[in-house]
Amino acid sequence: MKKALQNLKLSTLDFLRNYFRRFQTFHEANDSLVQICGINDFFGNKHDFTDFLEFLEPRHIVSETIERREYGDFQTPSILSDLVCSILLKEGFTPKIVVEPTFGKGSFILSALKTFPKLKQVYGIEIYESYFWFTKFAILELFVENPYLNKPLIFLYCKDVFKFDFRLFEKVATKENVLVLGNPPWITNSELSVLNSNNLPAKSNFKSYNGLDAITGKGNFDIGEYIILMMFKSFAKYRGYIAMLVKNSVIKNLTYDIPKMNYDISDMTALKFDAKAYFNASVEASLFKCRLGRSSHKYICKISSLGSPDLVESEFGWVDRKFVSDVALYQRSKAFDGHCPFIWRQGVKHDCSKVLELEIMSGKYINGFNEELTLEDDLIFGLVKSSDIQSPLISMPRKCIILTQKRVGEDTSYLADKYPNIYRYLTANSCFFSERKSSIYKGKPLFAIFGIGEYSFKPYKIAISGLYKKPSFSLILPFNNKPMMLDDTCYFLGFDDISEALIVLGILNRSYTKDLLRSIAFTDAKRPYTKDILMRINLFKIAESLGFENGRQLLTCLPDDISQYMTREKWDAFFAKYGKVQEEAYQRALFNEVSTTQHPSFNR
Ligand SMILES: C[S@@+](CC[C@H](N)C(=O)[O-])C[C@H]1O[C@@H](n2cnc3c(N)ncnc32)[C@H](O)[C@@H]1O
Repeated sequence: MKKALQNLKLSTLDFLRNYFRRFQTFHEANDSLVQICGINDFFGNKHDFTDFLEFLEPRHIVSETIERREYGDFQTPSILSDLVCSILLKEGFTPKIVVEPTFGKGSFILSALKTFPKLKQVYGIEIYESYFWFTKFAILELFVENPYLNKPLIFLYCKDVFKFDFRLFEKVATKENVLVLGNPPWITNSELSVLNSNNLPAKSNFKSYNGLDAITGKGNFDIGEYIILMMFKSFAKYRGYIAMLVKNSVIKNLTYDIPKMNYDISDMTALKFDAKAYFNASVEASLFKCRLGRSSHKYICKISSLGSPDLVESEFGWVDRKFVSDVALYQRSKAFDGHCPFIWRQGVKHDCSKVLELEIMSGKYINGFNEELTLEDDLIFGLVKSSDIQSPLISMPRKCIILTQKRVGEDTSYLADKYPNIYRYLTANSCFFSERKSSIYKGKPLFAIFGIGEYSFKPYKIAISGLYKKPSFSLILPFNNKPMMLDDTCYFLGFDDISEALIVLGILNRSYTKDLLRSIAFTDAKRPYTKDILMRINLFKIAESLGFENGRQLLTCLPDDISQYMTREKWDAFFAKYGKVQEEAYQRALFNEVSTTQHPSFNR
């Protein structure tokens, strides 16, 4: 409460000091306050009231700041919450009930009070007591300055939203238009685990992902996503809207999951805004808006912007049982959306780059601490990272990597006998291995790495960076007669025969493939290209449309001593050899019915 009072205007503080002098009990104060500003039970007990009178004294009015990262705390500036409410009003939506599940300093509640003239009730929940009081005083200030503003009844709760019982609304929400409004916390479960925070729902693995999914990042979810799902569950049966500010990745996940949830939700729209300008956050974000109380069974989300809400720029969602990022573009590429006959692999994950990644200078290995090392060469391989994948051919690495294992889970004690220098070096730096935060290393050998297997040792690789917006594929050649490795930001296909690698490169670096990828990958995501996306490239369908000459054309930018390996005979032999594999991949997918892109609910 003390901090909340520090944020009020001096004129409001003066008003409060004069006004509250007259009351003897907190009941008297509450009765008067509900008339002034609508807030029910402004003071919960007599201590709240006496503390309040004490904190009003000028000596308490100094400001403080505290660390609130675990609460995903990005308070909405009033200019943005006002804009959101005015857009809803312009659309003709006049809610009778507003619910703000994590109201913070109350920006959205205040904007709603100013914008919607027919509001009857407002409900808000916030975990942080200082904000809870801040909002009460800000509402009081609003009504002191605007005594003739419509005054709904306001219920504010200082509670954990994950433990809040939303059945409370069942009686009130049935009859009236509801608006669930706000800006839920911007933090993910994995960021919370690094902070050792338990600001999480009890059922934190609500998507039922397994341990392996932690490696690929699939098990990661935003707290805001969970809160919106809670809102769907509690309010989809009523008439109204949800309008909440969230990261674009959250909107993508919600749209992906909508078909299996069976909620009455329709008219989904993402209205982009500049998160850097409003929140100083380097993330792509939008206002997620949807209608409650009816389902169109069209699982599509429109994209527009807060600046031009009526101008639909594109749409994403489910088309013909496939999840796509651009519905219009996809119509042109859908023939190539299928099953890749080869398995895309992610590169090596180790989370210990200062120790395991080395540079070579004047024939010496140098680690991330600038130490010169003498190590056995056998376990050291060239390493290609995302930033290296710029040209179609990579034959020299910028860095090297020590591979402690040849397959996931391999015991690393063999290093002591066979590679004593490497063993001594790793043991001297073992603290960096034991400090690795990710749960995947728990219970594994001390020097364990991931993303390693027989496939890692294929000499020729076709690789793409998962992080870059533009899809671009490179051929990776062996270095020092050893296969090169990729780091875990990259994906690759491995080949024993350079001709096969060249054929696949020729197919992948063409516009057919790139258009398909642009229509199914979300380029505003941190990692637009994932294994799931790449496994959808139907190489053979693209090759059919391309033909040998076009497939070969792209390879003219490679040196002749490389491109010469792609001949018509090799092209024909490749399709004869793998045509069957492609057919099997297709049949397998049909048999399993559920592919990574097909939603279970479509298979009823
Ligand atoms: C992104 S801020 C937005 C605040 C406010 N909705 C706004 O638009 O300015 C998220 C808010 O969620 C609150 N919060 C975080 N975890 C919470 C929880 N478990 N229960 C209730 N509120 C929570 C934070 O304290 C913070 O005020």
